[in-house]
Amino acid sequence: MCGIVGYYGPQNPKDVIIAGLKKLEYRGYDSAGLTVLHQGQLKRVRAEGKLKNLEQKIIGEKFDGHLGIGHTRWATHGVPSERNAHPHQVQGVSIVHNGIIENYLEIREELLARGAKITSDTDSELVAHLIAEEVQKQNDLLKAVQIVLGKLRGAFSILAIWEKQPDRLVAFKDGPPLVVGLGDKETFIVSDVQAALQHTKKYIYLDDREIVLVRGDQVDIVDPTGKQIKKQIVELNWSAEQVEKMGYSHFMLKEIYEQPQAIASAMEPHIDSETHSIRLKNVGFGTAPQNIDQLNTLVDWEKTCATLKGINKVMIIACGTSYYAGLAGKYYIEQIARIPVEVDIASEFRYRKPVLQPGTLVMTISQSGETADTLAAIRLAKESGATTLSICNVKNSTIDREAHGHLYMNSGPEVGVASTKAFTSTLVILNCLALAIGKIKNSLSSAQEKEHIQALLSLPSQVEVVLAYDKYFTEAAESLKSFKGFLYMGRGVSYPIALEGALKLKELAYLHAEGYAAGEMKHGPLALIDERMAIIMLAPSDELYEKTVSNLEEAKARGGKIISIGTGENEKLKKISERYLSIPKAHWSTNPVISVIPLQLMAFHLASSLGYDVDQPRNLAKSVTVE
Ligand code: M6R
Repeated sequence: MCGIVGYYGPQNPKDVIIAGLKKLEYRGYDSAGLTVLHQGQLKRVRAEGKLKNLEQKIIGEKFDGHLGIGHTRWATHGVPSERNAHPHQVQGVSIVHNGIIENYLEIREELLARGAKITSDTDSELVAHLIAEEVQKQNDLLKAVQIVLGKLRGAFSILAIWEKQPDRLVAFKDGPPLVVGLGDKETFIVSDVQAALQHTKKYIYLDDREIVLVRGDQVDIVDPTGKQIKKQIVELNWSAEQVEKMGYSHFMLKEIYEQPQAIASAMEPHIDSETHSIRLKNVGFGTAPQNIDQLNTLVDWEKTCATLKGINKVMIIACGTSYYAGLAGKYYIEQIARIPVEVDIASEFRYRKPVLQPGTLVMTISQSGETADTLAAIRLAKESGATTLSICNVKNSTIDREAHGHLYMNSGPEVGVASTKAFTSTLVILNCLALAIGKIKNSLSSAQEKEHIQALLSLPSQVEVVLAYDKYFTEAAESLKSFKGFLYMGRGVSYPIALEGALKLKELAYLHAEGYAAGEMKHGPLALIDERMAIIMLAPSDELYEKTVSNLEEAKARGGKIISIGTGENEKLKKISERYLSIPKAHWSTNPVISVIPLQLMAFHLASSLGYDVDQPRNLAKSVTVE
């Protein structure tokens, strides 16, 4: 993954780079470094560990000049250490790299045979050597990069500077994202717009195998042969404040509390609140929108109807939390729209030679829109001739740009590595999509449509209510400390929520938790149950409630300690459970959005009271741009 920042302009490059890396630390945080062209020479500082270690190390250091690059790392090749930290520097060339060079062993051998002195265990350093060799021959950084690009295989985005061309910054990519921010006489090249939002709202999104050449004030994008490419400039409407903590202790907590607004923004374009009817807006099937303006002017409900009318199956593909949202989508689409849905993990889908029958809509879900496996899956689906639809949070991300149709989570930037508001917004979007397919395919009556929409419209205020119960979730989190393991369980559409709850606990509190379909307990997991096993049961008052209660009794009879999450006052659940957490009564289709919130908050409180870094859990990164 890794975050990269490059800067050319009148501000002090060190300040711009450090501020940018702070915004990108979610992409990796096991070491960081920067190089500034200071008084005609490359000045590099690197540090193992989080960015704050680098900041500490450069206190009192002077960095002048107008050109620099920086990096925050998520290790792929070579342990996290200063030696393996970026930038990598060879004979006046300095580079930062995000991704993986797949043919690195081959390149390494060739370089060693030519007498190169390799000082790290990384694949990235090899790129610095290759460019350094070529600049000596070509006497030009761009030409050198053009040649080196042809030698690399894998997934990479790379920034390079050369001390002999002090006004140049050259960047290229094939895979992980790279965005060019255009300021007033200054240019930013970053992994994610968040790193430059405080400076500019104007961006160019690089496509694969494009090279950007910054030469003083001038920015050119060329193909590998050097031919100019005309690119669209996208003007963003995210504000820099949206990526600040705004008084919250953690981004994750802020993002949990933003959910009422995020959910409302997710459904807003697709619901006519006066007529209580669904009309998916600006899905854009069949078009390849170049920018947000174009997206916003598309009037395509008819085109969407025509596309969705022709589908007879939906295949949902995603990773992690987005995959669990997809599993909930299966319940929505099958129950509401009555067409079959298959859900797959992207890393499995892409290698299992999937059979995509005609009429299958392939839908990917990705908050970042950059997850490597999900991107590969959508490309594979397109090659097989399938119509694709993406649900992304980050507009103009690679997956968004490549899909035929587009739906947006509209959650605003999500910075905490653990996904929260993107998950609940996705549930809302999937709910809207199910209603739209149901309506188009006549499997949803207008009375049912109104009932579902009423439920959706009530959701933001119901989420507010659950958030107001946080003190109960804080107390519950404290009580979880005494357990050795956790089983999260639910039935029906609560089952994916149980999976998501277990993932939140694992990734934040580093505790072993499993999500299970409650009906499966007697097929194995019951053997795990003793007084040190906590059972966290989602038991809403839905049509499966009685069966869920029976599963709870079975667990209790074997000594399991139960924390149940149910609807309103519920004496029965209170009696069975060690702790009963009440949430507002909701429609079956919106209950999952409400019931995941206690699970998010319990994981948050437990992890933070254990002293863990909630926003940046160990070994993880927000945007997984490598396989
Ligand atoms: O950006 P994406 O939605 O594609 O990311 C997918 C997963 O990497 C992500 O959901 C991950 O599981 C989160 N850490 C979960 O909190």
